[in-house]
Amino acid sequence: MASSDQPAFGVYVHWPFCLSKCPYCDFNSHVRHAAVDEARFLRAFVAETAATAARTGPRTVTSIFLGGGTPSLMQPATVGGILDAIGQHWTLGGHVEVTLEANPTSVEAGRFRGYRAAGVNRVSLGVQALDDAALKELGRTHTAREALEAVAIARSCFDRYSFDLIYARPRQTPQQWADELKRAIAEAAEHLSLYQLTIEPDTPFAALHAAGKLATPDDDTARALYDTTQDICGKAGLPAYEVSNHAQPGAECRHNLVYWRAHEYAGIGPGAHGRLDIDGHRHATMSEKRPDAWLMRVESLGHGLVTNDALTREERADEFLLMGLRLTEGIDPARYEALSGRPLDPARIALLTAQGFVESQGQRCLRVTPAGFPLLDAVVADLAA
Ligand SMILES: C[S@@+](CC[C@H](N)C(=O)[O-])C[C@H]1O[C@@H](n2cnc3c(N)ncnc32)[C@H](O)[C@@H]1O
Ligand code: SF4
Repeated sequence: MASSDQPAFGVYVHWPFCLSKCPYCDFNSHVRHAAVDEARFLRAFVAETAATAARTGPRTVTSIFLGGGTPSLMQPATVGGILDAIGQHWTLGGHVEVTLEANPTSVEAGRFRGYRAAGVNRVSLGVQALDDAALKELGRTHTAREALEAVAIARSCFDRYSFDLIYARPRQTPQQWADELKRAIAEAAEHLSLYQLTIEPDTPFAALHAAGKLATPDDDTARALYDTTQDICGKAGLPAYEVSNHAQPGAECRHNLVYWRAHEYAGIGPGAHGRLDIDGHRHATMSEKRPDAWLMRVESLGHGLVTNDALTREERADEFLLMGLRLTEGIDPARYEALSGRPLDPARIALLTAQGFVESQGQRCLRVTPAGFPLLDAVVADLAA
C-alpha cells in the first residue's frame, strides 16, 4: 500500500440509475422506465467536471471511481466521454486507477471490452450472495451462476477486479457463511468487499424489519459471522485493510483509500460528495441529488453544487479520525493534532490501550486492534470526545 502521506486526488462520478431498486439499498439510485438520455447526462458530467476543475485549479488525478446506481448501464462511449473530460481538465497520474461498479445483470463481455478501451482498468461487481434463495430475498434479479459468469467476464477483461458480498443476512449461520465465503474466495482475485447487511431507514427492508417480518442475526451471531469473515479471509491471504474491505497487500482500492486517508476528492454527478482544498480551507461539497433537478441545475448554472461548506478545524479533525480508524493501518496522531490544534487525549488512549481496543506503533501510528474493530463506533466516539 502506498504511504498515507503521498498526495492523492480522487474523482468520484455518480451514475444514479438502476434497472430495479433493491429493497435494502438507500444509495441515490432511481429506476426509469423510459430510456435515459445518456448524451444529455454526458454533457452535464463534462460541464460539472470543467466547473469543478476551475475551482480546484491544477491537480494530478490518482484515482477515478464510477459508482452508482449501476454505472455498467452506461454505454462505453459515455464512460469514455467522462474519462476524457477528467483527463482534459486535470492531469492524469501515471498509474491512475479507474474503477467502474457493475451489476451482474448488466454485464456482457463486449461492453466490458468497451469500458477497457475507454480507460477503465478495474471493476467492482455487486455479486451480493452465492445462494439463489438469498439473492431472491435481497431482491436481486440475477442468480449466483449469472453472478459468477459476470466475475469470469471481469477476470477475462481486467487485471484488477473485486466483488461485493452482503452477509449477516436473515437466518444465515456462521457455517453457511463460511462455506459461501470460501467459494467466493476461490473466484476472487486480489480484493473483496464484504458488507454486513445494514437495515437502512426508509427502505422496504426497514419496513419489514419493523413489522417483525425480517429478522437479522442477533449480536452473538453477527459477531460470529464477523469473526468467521476475518479468520477465513486472513488465512486466504485477503486480510481486512478496512472494516469491510479485504485485499492482498498492495491491491487495496486506491480510490477508497483517498476517502479513508482524508485526502482530496471531487464529486461529479447527482448527489456526489467532494472534499476540496480551496483557498487554504477544506470544503465539503455535494451536488443536487435528484437526477433531473441536477441536470437542469448544471444546464443553467454550469454546476450542480448545492452544498459547499468550509469545514472547521474540529470538523476536519473528527472526519480524519472517523475515516482513518476504519483502516487497519490506523492514523498518525500528529496529523490529528495539526488539524485540530490539540492532541488526542493521552488518558483516553491509555485506557483504550489497556482494554485492548487500540494500539500504538511508535509515535506515528495509532490503530484499532482486531478486538476493537467490532466496537469501532464506540472506540472512535471515545477518542473524539
Ligand atoms: C452502489 S452498490 C454496487 C453496484 C451495483 N449497483 C450492484 O448492486 O450490483 C454498492 C454496494 O453496497 C452494498 N450495499 C448496499 N446497500 C447495503 C446495505 N443496506 N447493507 C449492506 N450492504 C449494502 C452492496 O454490496 C452493493 O454492492
Ligand atoms: S444495490 Fe446496486 S442495483 Fe441495487 S438499488 Fe442499490 S445501487 Fe441499485
